[in-house]
Amino acid sequence: MSDNKIFIFDTTLRDGEQVPGCKLNTQQKLEIAKELERLGVDVIEAGFPISSPGDFEAVARICDMVRNPIICGLSRAVEKDIKVAAEALQSAKRPRIHTGIGTSDSHVKFKLKTTREKVIERAVAAVKYAKSFVEDVEFYAEDAGRTDNEFLARVIQAVVEAGATVLNIPDTTGYCLPDEYGAKIKFLKENVKGIHKTIISTHCHNDLGLATANSIFGIRNGARQIECTINGIGERAGNTSLEEVVMVMRQHGHLGFEDNIQTKLLNPISQLVSDRMGMVVQPNKAIVGTNAFAHSSGIHQDGVIKNRETYEIINPLDVGVDQSKIVLTARSGRAAIAYRAKNIGYNLTKLELDKVYEQFLKVADRQKEVGDDDLTGIIKTVDGVTV
Ligand code: KIV
Ligand code: ZN
Repeated sequence: MSDNKIFIFDTTLRDGEQVPGCKLNTQQKLEIAKELERLGVDVIEAGFPISSPGDFEAVARICDMVRNPIICGLSRAVEKDIKVAAEALQSAKRPRIHTGIGTSDSHVKFKLKTTREKVIERAVAAVKYAKSFVEDVEFYAEDAGRTDNEFLARVIQAVVEAGATVLNIPDTTGYCLPDEYGAKIKFLKENVKGIHKTIISTHCHNDLGLATANSIFGIRNGARQIECTINGIGERAGNTSLEEVVMVMRQHGHLGFEDNIQTKLLNPISQLVSDRMGMVVQPNKAIVGTNAFAHSSGIHQDGVIKNRETYEIINPLDVGVDQSKIVLTARSGRAAIAYRAKNIGYNLTKLELDKVYEQFLKVADRQKEVGDDDLTGIIKTVDGVTV
C-alpha cells in the first residue's frame, strides 16, 4: 500500500447522528451504511453501542450486511462500554473498537475530576481491555486540540505501548488553527516512539469553519486517516465534510494523496443523508450545495458559457451533478439568456435577443429567478421569434 494512502473514516452514523433531530432508525442506518460502502470509505463508525439498544442493534446489523469497510463502534474508556461495543461488533468481518478519554486540562479537571496520571492509567487499561476482544483498537484523546503537546505525547506513547493501532487526535471543540493542528501531528510523529507502526487520525470539528483546513494540515504533517461525515454534519457546527476533504485531495493531486472514494457518488449520498436525516444542505455548501455549480451573475455566466473552467474548478460530472446551472436573475446578461433560450429551442438573433432582454429585466426585477416557463412567455411576447 502506498505511504500516501489516506483512509477515509466516515462517522455520519455516529458523530453525525448525534445531532438533534437527525436520529435514524436501523433500516435507514443500514441503507446509508450500504451507500457508504459503495462510495468506497475505508471505515464506517456505525454507532455507540452502549448508548441505546437501538444503536447496538444498528451496529450489529451493519456488521452482518456491510462486509468491505472496517466497522467501528465507539466506547468511552469504561469496561462496560468496551464489552458492549465488542458484542455489537461480533459478526463484523473487520471490527474496530474506538475507545478513549479526555486529555485537555478542562476535561481532566472539570469533566473527569481526576488527574493526568489517572487519565493515562485509564487510557492504557481501556486499550488493553479492548485488545482482549479485537486486534484493531483506535484510541481517541478527546479535546486533543486543546491539550498541551507534551502531555498529549505522554498519553499517546502509553497507548501505543498498550497496543493501539490507530491514534485519533480530535480537535473536539474546533479550536485549532490549521498550522497549529498540523504542528501537533508533527510533534507526535517526532516524539512518540513506535508511532510509525500506527495510523494517526484527524477528527476535526467545525466551530470556526476550519475543520477541512485542519484535516488537510493534519495529513500534510503525517496523519493518514481523516474522520469525516457526509455534508459535514455533526455536533454543533459539525465535523469535517467528507466531500470537501476528498475533493481537496483530488483538485490538488500534486500533494500526492490517494483515496478509494468514488466521487461520482458524492452528490447522491449527500441527498440521501440529507433526506433521511431531514437535515437541509445549505445551498452554498461546497461540492454538494444546490448552488455549488450554479452561476447567476452576467459576468460569470458569460465566462462559463465560453469555457466552464473560467469559474469552475471541479467538473460537476465528477461529483455526480449532471451539469452546471445558468440561473436567470436580474443580474444575468444577454449571453445567459441566449444560452437558456437555445436550451428551450429558440435561436435568437441579435435583434431578438435585445428585445427579449428588455422584457426579461422587467420580469427579473419582480421575481428572484426567471424559469424556463417565464422565459418562454417573454419570448412569445416579442414579435417574429420562432422556434
Ligand atoms: O469530537 C470528539 O472528540 C469525538 C470523540 C468521541 C472521537 O467525537
Ligand atoms: Zn467528534
